[in-house]
Amino acid sequence: MRPVIINCDPGIDDSLAIMLAVLSKRLKVVGITTTFGNASVEHTTENALGIVEYLGADIPVAKGANGPIKGRRINANYVHGNNGLAGIRLPHRAKAVAESAEDFIIDRVKAGDVDTIISTAPLTNIAKAFMKDARAMRRLKKLVIMGGTVTEPGSVTRVAEFNFFGDPYAAEYVLHTGVYKLMIPRDITQRVIFKPSDFSKFAPGKRSELAAKLIRFYQRFYMNVLDLDGNPLPDVLTVGIVIKPGLIKTKRMQMDVETGGDYTRGMSVVERRSGEYQRKAVTNVDVAVSIKPDEFLDYFIRTISSRKTTYK
Ligand code: BDR
Ligand code: CA
Repeated sequence: MRPVIINCDPGIDDSLAIMLAVLSKRLKVVGITTTFGNASVEHTTENALGIVEYLGADIPVAKGANGPIKGRRINANYVHGNNGLAGIRLPHRAKAVAESAEDFIIDRVKAGDVDTIISTAPLTNIAKAFMKDARAMRRLKKLVIMGGTVTEPGSVTRVAEFNFFGDPYAAEYVLHTGVYKLMIPRDITQRVIFKPSDFSKFAPGKRSELAAKLIRFYQRFYMNVLDLDGNPLPDVLTVGIVIKPGLIKTKRMQMDVETGGDYTRGMSVVERRSGEYQRKAVTNVDVAVSIKPDEFLDYFIRTISSRKTTYK
């Protein structure tokens, strides 16, 4: 099992991503680090603890940043509900560990307990970990990031995707660290759409009921505001790709993030010009450029519907 840390802001799709990671039995979730993003870090931490307990899992949760390194804090209550989880409160006894998210990340990476970090949220915790102990962070093998967009429009603004817009400075910093980075941008996530007709594919059961309730809430924004046929599941897809790398094809690219700009804050700026410009590009990331949507959706629905009740 691949040992991973999930850096997230649950968040409806983040919570479903945690469910998929745990139930897949293909990943060992060494820890979950939380951040502001879809809701305040208080709410996202509560939600992470709740989903872990709901799954019967034993995974430490470390609370992280409640705002970006620079600039104002955002949220996505209009998509995920006021508490970030469609107003659903999942009971839990456990508390977050005493360590901050950035220290938790540094310590686990330094100890060699984790080889991949999956980030489905603003990158503040990760940037802080690199700023604090770049040497330790060099032991990390892979950073998989849901964020940015190459050819699709943005989500929060015309050009900026939510996770990059949430902390553009952190995104720009992390994208220029030496560690290997795989990007899952909006281009890919928007191609995997969970449609209203897909609900009937869940086998009956408590877990399917919770997943369906969450997705129904989430779907409203995508169908009513963006006029889509259903909703994407960006963070779930990101975890799915770590479990099944064959779902995507990638291309090496040069990607930077706009940290200022009156209209372009948080925009991912990619070298897409041809010829000499391509040849001279200072590439820093692998970017997912194609996806097998049906294979992913089948796997997601099957795993959530599985009869396994606990993690252990
Ligand atoms: C990202 O924005 C958040 O609202 C989702 O949880 C996901 O991480 C998609 O752009
Ligand atoms: Ca997220």
